[in-house]
Amino acid sequence: MAAEVIRNGGLVAFPTETVYGLGASALSSKAAEKIFAAKGRPSDNPLIIHLADPGDATRYAITSPAYDKLSRFMPGPLTVILPKRDIIPSSVTGGLDTVAVRVPSHPIACALIRSAGVPIAAPSANRSGKPSCTTVEHVIQEMDGRVDVILDGGESDVGLESTILLPFGDHSVKLLRPGAITVEMLEAEGFTVILDKAVTERLADGEIPLAPGMKYRHYAPEAQVILLDGDHEAVLSYMQNRGDDCGVALIIYEEDAEKLCGKRLKVIGKRGDSLTYAHRLFAVLRELDADSDVKVIYAPLPAKDNLGLALYNRLMKAAGYSVKTV
Ligand code: TXA
Ligand code: MG
Repeated sequence: MAAEVIRNGGLVAFPTETVYGLGASALSSKAAEKIFAAKGRPSDNPLIIHLADPGDATRYAITSPAYDKLSRFMPGPLTVILPKRDIIPSSVTGGLDTVAVRVPSHPIACALIRSAGVPIAAPSANRSGKPSCTTVEHVIQEMDGRVDVILDGGESDVGLESTILLPFGDHSVKLLRPGAITVEMLEAEGFTVILDKAVTERLADGEIPLAPGMKYRHYAPEAQVILLDGDHEAVLSYMQNRGDDCGVALIIYEEDAEKLCGKRLKVIGKRGDSLTYAHRLFAVLRELDADSDVKVIYAPLPAKDNLGLALYNRLMKAAGYSVKTV
């Protein structure tokens, strides 16, 4: 039924292992236009096409030895930018001559793509500018009445969007958006990884990142997020002092909960457990946003290694690069 909706040009929100997607046939510009309308997304921000098998990419894009090598991470949380073939309408790629290709591993996503028989163009299933959805309840809040079908796949496993890479040469990639396929994993496979500036830095007005979506103040809740940068004791003592201020909420590590009791808290897992931080981050931001009394959210800034780089990137964007050194 959902596959038929896709084939007929409709919209289906579906789970993936990263975040929920808002899908439509990637072969139809009309269907793609519906995605932009449902999300309130600027039409120059291109969509990722989701395939059932890495080998299918040759039908829609020009693949390369680097792509073949990267496909060892597929199915999984990885997106690769390739020169596009004409079969993909330019409305899907925001007018670019490249297309973003991803093979998700979530069984519902795989089954949907296979039975639709077409590639599925899908951005994250949130309204433009909001944190991505990692539970079906959040998709319903954002998309009910705007899509034809919403599929429930439980909580998203990773919780952050896929890693986006632009290959150049046979062994080098530019990292446009960090995710669960980490720099360290890519280097272990023999790739040289170059970070696009937009991964860690705020771009100047008018500067255009390689992934157009990275220019937006994405992943942002309504409350002001302030990231605390410092050693563990310093962050904890800052939180102890500020946690009672009017409208303040704290994102904290599990082992600090006792020392901060009585304050408005959201536990994000144990210190050093980036998997749980990633898994919970967007849901926690949404839960805090649902409380209109929360005006300021303090969160610890994670280290930039492994999955921490993706957390750092999303938190920096959510915070509008507001960091307090403690
Ligand atoms: O995990 C994910 O990637 C999720 C799930 C649903 O697959 N999708 C997702 O899509 O995060 P979206 O649209 O929210 O983010 C896609 C990012 C945007 O920053 C967009 O600008 C970039 O990918 N992008 C898409 N096509 C591109 C292209 N041809 N060249 C450069 N960047 C591209
Ligand atoms: Mg998105």
